Amino acid sequence: MRNCYFDNAATSFPKAPGVAQAMADYLTRVGCNVGRGDYQSAYAAAERVLEVRERLARRFGAPDPRNVIFTPGCTYGLNMVLKGLLRPGDKVAASPMEHNAVLRPLRQLEDQGVEILWLPCADTGELLTDQAAERLTADVKLCVLTHASNVCGTRMPIEAVGKLCRERGILFCVDAAQSAGFLPLDMGAMGIDAMAMPAHKGLLGPQGLGALLLTDAVAQVLEPLVSGGTGSRSDLLEMPPFLPDRLEPGTLNLPGIYGLGAALDWWEGQDAAALRHREERLTGHLIARLCEYEEDGLRVLGTKDEKKQVGVVSVDFLGKDNAACAYRLERDFGIQTRCGLHCAPLAHRTLGTYPQGTVRFSVGPFTSFEDIDYVQGAVAELLAE
Ligand SMILES: Cc1ncc(COP(=O)(O)O)c(C=O)c1O
Repeated sequence: MRNCYFDNAATSFPKAPGVAQAMADYLTRVGCNVGRGDYQSAYAAAERVLEVRERLARRFGAPDPRNVIFTPGCTYGLNMVLKGLLRPGDKVAASPMEHNAVLRPLRQLEDQGVEILWLPCADTGELLTDQAAERLTADVKLCVLTHASNVCGTRMPIEAVGKLCRERGILFCVDAAQSAGFLPLDMGAMGIDAMAMPAHKGLLGPQGLGALLLTDAVAQVLEPLVSGGTGSRSDLLEMPPFLPDRLEPGTLNLPGIYGLGAALDWWEGQDAAALRHREERLTGHLIARLCEYEEDGLRVLGTKDEKKQVGVVSVDFLGKDNAACAYRLERDFGIQTRCGLHCAPLAHRTLGTYPQGTVRFSVGPFTSFEDIDYVQGAVAELLAE
């Protein structure tokens, strides 16, 4: 039976060529720590880490490589921003399309007296920009927004919100979990103050690693969520005052950083515009194939427009159990999807798919058009039963 991986929104697979080898090379041939050893291999490893930092800063428009903080993942970076900035009495704006990586820290902060303002969205997941603008008043401290929904792929108007936030003195944090890799992202040009991303999704790197990119303004006021050794200024009982050390305690995920470096090597050898165009065409193809069954009991969520979303498409098998359908897709056809609420319960309330959730198909650079045609055949068989 064919094996068709359609769960790239959870984690991309396969990873970029060279990632596994780079990680194995680090573990078998380098192995040492950085900032803690006074020998050549430790200096070489530190240079590699700096180089990956520099490339991330260049690619995503961070003001300086030191403003790129390595984290254990996107969730961790988002927690660092939310919990490091917000204090009782502060107002934070967020959309209902956020992932639990944002919703759960916000819920914790709400218990401590932080006020959450919800930015309204249409049932396609699109931000209602005019209404959102009315809620983004100058007394809001921070606006946090996902760049693209992990449920239906709908993209948020990051540039417009960034501009508004800048005009009104609101800090702007972007969750780039579903966009970093494919969509162009430039912190400076888009008015973004903090941006969290995982290495393991669109960047095609390994799990257990993420990056948090910060402007100087945020980096200076962000309280470290975790403190500890940095290998620098060991005389201090406080975190060192300089970046990235101030926000990067403990030993770094070095195999992960070597792996991410290899993923960036791969990306830099590609025609990014062509890859983006291909992903858009794949997404359009998937939407079109699935929409053929809208009269036969399949609801396709989101904008149904590949130009307004990333390669994540959710469907609701009306009158059927979505979990059973996902199970059958794998058992009978080898198609791997994700079903349920995808860690975004309020998104499903917005889309009208709560509590049943959806079956989510998500494409990546190694998905083929034939894979999508194969999905169409499988979905047709399930619907015909
Ligand atoms: C939109 C969004 N934000 C945040 C996350 C959290 O990413 P991670 O689990 O890599 O920390 C995810 C993961 O699925 C996501 O889709």
